[in-house]
Amino acid sequence: MRTVRTVAEVRAALTGGGGVGLVPTMGALHEGHLSLFRAARAENDTVVASLFVNPAQFDDEADLGAYPREEARDASLAAEAGVDLLFAPPLEEMYPDGFQTWVEVGEVSAGLEGDARPGHFRAVATVCLKLFNVVRPARAYFGQKDAQQAAVIRRLVRDLSLPLEIRVLPTVRDPDGLALSSRNTRLSTEERARALALPRALARGAETYRLGGDAVAAAVAELNGLTPDYVELLDLDGALVLAGAVRVGSIRLIDNVLLHGELR
Ligand code: PAJ
Repeated sequence: MRTVRTVAEVRAALTGGGGVGLVPTMGALHEGHLSLFRAARAENDTVVASLFVNPAQFDDEADLGAYPREEARDASLAAEAGVDLLFAPPLEEMYPDGFQTWVEVGEVSAGLEGDARPGHFRAVATVCLKLFNVVRPARAYFGQKDAQQAAVIRRLVRDLSLPLEIRVLPTVRDPDGLALSSRNTRLSTEERARALALPRALARGAETYRLGGDAVAAAVAELNGLTPDYVELLDLDGALVLAGAVRVGSIRLIDNVLLHGELR
């Protein structure tokens, strides 16, 4: 695996033709990211991963400052999972001096994470569109963990006729059910135990939905004292998910479960 830092180096490295699979990440890699790398490895000739903590998509300075940065560790995990090229650009490569072009995906970006984090999806959509232009992948890989993000990217690709396929893969969890997240490392032992109420509540919501009941009400009732930012239903390209966000101490966690339909 090679690590490159500029757009020019990515383009020079990818002249070989054949299908390229792209996995955009912000690093602090865990098994969730690695599952995307492995899927990309199985389906493409060349696998590119990007590692860029995108400041524009953080609305909270403290969250951005505390975001784990561990490139050497990430590089060895990516190499082991079959990544061929790691694109780890500095800020000025992604946002050159005077940067002022943004892409806004309308309704899909509203509600849930969009309301909780103003400007978040505009920044996610813009950085992903830029990565698609730089890498020109045949397929790009996203996690169900960030279901609304996946829906925003699907919409972006369809609306702008981008020549790639978006693949969405299931959420990878710890054995106790907590969805893996780069932010989990910042939870204390006590906070981590409390955080388990989120996946449990969503599972209860899904169970209630199967029995014909109100998934949202059932999940909210099981949150065990955690304050929800929201618990809502979200249509992810024909698949229905029950999504929730909670705060545990200073950490904000999101998760969702599939109620109906399938991910592609
Ligand atoms: P990041 O949080 O690093 O996540 C990168 C990809 O990994 C996303 O598609 C996310 O949904 C997926 N992922 C995270 N946790 C997962 C889990 N437990 N199981 C499966 N997949 C998981 O999402 C971003 O970065 C950024 O917004 C990005 C798309 C890179 C744009 O900056």
